[in-house]
Amino acid sequence: MDIKLLAIESSCDETSAAISHNGRILSNVVVSQAIHEIYGGVVPELASRSHQRHIIPVVHAALEKSGIDKKDLTAVAYTRGPGLLGSLLVGATFAKAFAAALEIPVIEINHMQAHILAHFIDDPKPEFPFLCLTVSGGHTQIVQVNDLLKMKILGETIDDAAGEAFDKTAKLLGLPYPGGHLIDTYARLGNPRRFTFPGTEIRDYDFSFSGLKTSVLYFLREKLSDDKEFITKNLNDICASVQFRIIDLLLKKLELASASTGISIIAIAGGVSANSMLREKLNELSVKNNWQVFIPRQEYCTDNAAMIAIAGYFKYRENLLGDFSSSPDARLKY
Ligand code: KG4
Ligand code: ZN
Repeated sequence: MDIKLLAIESSCDETSAAISHNGRILSNVVVSQAIHEIYGGVVPELASRSHQRHIIPVVHAALEKSGIDKKDLTAVAYTRGPGLLGSLLVGATFAKAFAAALEIPVIEINHMQAHILAHFIDDPKPEFPFLCLTVSGGHTQIVQVNDLLKMKILGETIDDAAGEAFDKTAKLLGLPYPGGHLIDTYARLGNPRRFTFPGTEIRDYDFSFSGLKTSVLYFLREKLSDDKEFITKNLNDICASVQFRIIDLLLKKLELASASTGISIIAIAGGVSANSMLREKLNELSVKNNWQVFIPRQEYCTDNAAMIAIAGYFKYRENLLGDFSSSPDARLKY
């Protein structure tokens, strides 16, 4: 069977379209919304408007780059959730209208599953079962992946996501949103053991990051009351120390999950998997624990439609087609 898909991703602040042919990505166009930088977080209303503005040019660019004619498309895959409702609505409505006009089916994709399936875009691909630490701006999960479409969440955050811990720290430091990659950049020049931040240790494979955020807030308040220039003088060390704590909390739970499930094939996914310290420490753990580690290419870590296209390909092969009357679901579960 010849399967040519258009995939749409619009769950948060990236408008993206990709074209795939039998699971091979031919184009992946991503427009990131810079508009949120000054607000310290995504403003949902602005995000939806920006998706509206970008979705048609992004889809045209993806089609043109792929060399595929829209009349030859087999189906349209789109992110049904989880995400911001207004943002999801733009992508879902566009995908359904486009598919209806071409008289082809739609495929509904779970954004978090797609982050994991990004590992099946390129070689080498992980074998089943494997564990995936999915770390994004909205989620932090340890997932046991038993097959392409059979996944079980073993643990997740009970409050903030790991990406939020990065972004909120960045905001406290006066850095623009999203601050994760900036913290990563400054941290490379800093001492991760200069400052100690307590994190909340909770049971099983769950995570908690809100305590860490509060401890950074109190720490900065106290230091700034003595020295107004404290952040400027110590930015690299603060970033390195907070990042060290976040990564430490993540990897401890991943080690625990691997030890108790006996699964030693380990993957990471989601925006925070772009973090250089996480990648480095994971490679160290692969030697220590004899893990086989899978780290996605940078462009497939943060939100993109290529991961929606690969997930769509797997669902289409199983004849798991979408319903034109279903609505986006901001809290869509597996
Ligand atoms: O997966 P993603 O693009 O969007 C969501 O689904 O949320 O993840 C975005 C998150 C943001 O919190 C961003 O700060 C974080 O990923 N991020 C990073 C890095 N690059 C992106 N966090 C730490 N280090 C990075 N290099
Ligand atoms: Zn994401």
